[in-house]
Amino acid sequence: MAGLPQIMRANRAFLRRAVRFLVDSGIRQFLDIGSGIPTAGNVHSVAQRRPTSGARSLPGGVRRQRPVAVAHSRALLEADPTTAVLEADLRRPEDVLGHPELSALLDLDQPIAVLMVAVLHFVPAVDQPRELIAQYRDAVPAGSYLAISHATRDGQPELAAEHQTLYRRTAIR
Ligand SMILES: C[S@@+](CC[C@H](N)C(=O)[O-])C[C@H]1O[C@@H](n2cnc3c(N)ncnc32)[C@H](O)[C@@H]1O
Repeated sequence: MAGLPQIMRANRAFLRRAVRFLVDSGIRQFLDIGSGIPTAGNVHSVAQRRPTSGARSLPGGVRRQRPVAVAHSRALLEADPTTAVLEADLRRPEDVLGHPELSALLDLDQPIAVLMVAVLHFVPAVDQPRELIAQYRDAVPAGSYLAISHATRDGQPELAAEHQTLYRRTAIR
């Protein structure tokens, strides 16, 4: 589909820049919601490559409907005690934030970067994304960050409409 590969590359480049910025700003904990399967330049590898890092990251929120994605992510990360894969739906913040794997890895009393990179497209208005984001914000202490990337119709509305149709059809919603 026209433009999609460039958009995906730009999105991944944003993710890497954001993680580098966050580590350089003192963040050591990441809650990566809607992480997808770990691949090159993922949150934990970018963070750990920063000289001052020691980062722990939780690529959480891989959805229940994709057990294969969860299993594959776990297999890729199982040797790394600084990461964990959490299977939950971001539309249920209480399930994500109260998950035992989250509390085993992340300290919610210390600043955390919550990443919602290219995932809010899958949360329709009826699920009240603004309120959901507020619940994550309220669960983390001062000094935390929220990083979001999200498509816009600005610039190329026709292309955006095509992509919207594709996203509505996709199995990962
Ligand atoms: C387009 S991918 C983005 C992956 C990665 N964040 C990136 O930017 O490369 C969207 C991801 O969000 C996940 N996702 C979609 N809806 C979700 C939901 N309600 N809860 C948790 N994850 C969800 C999908 O399974 C998929 O892994």
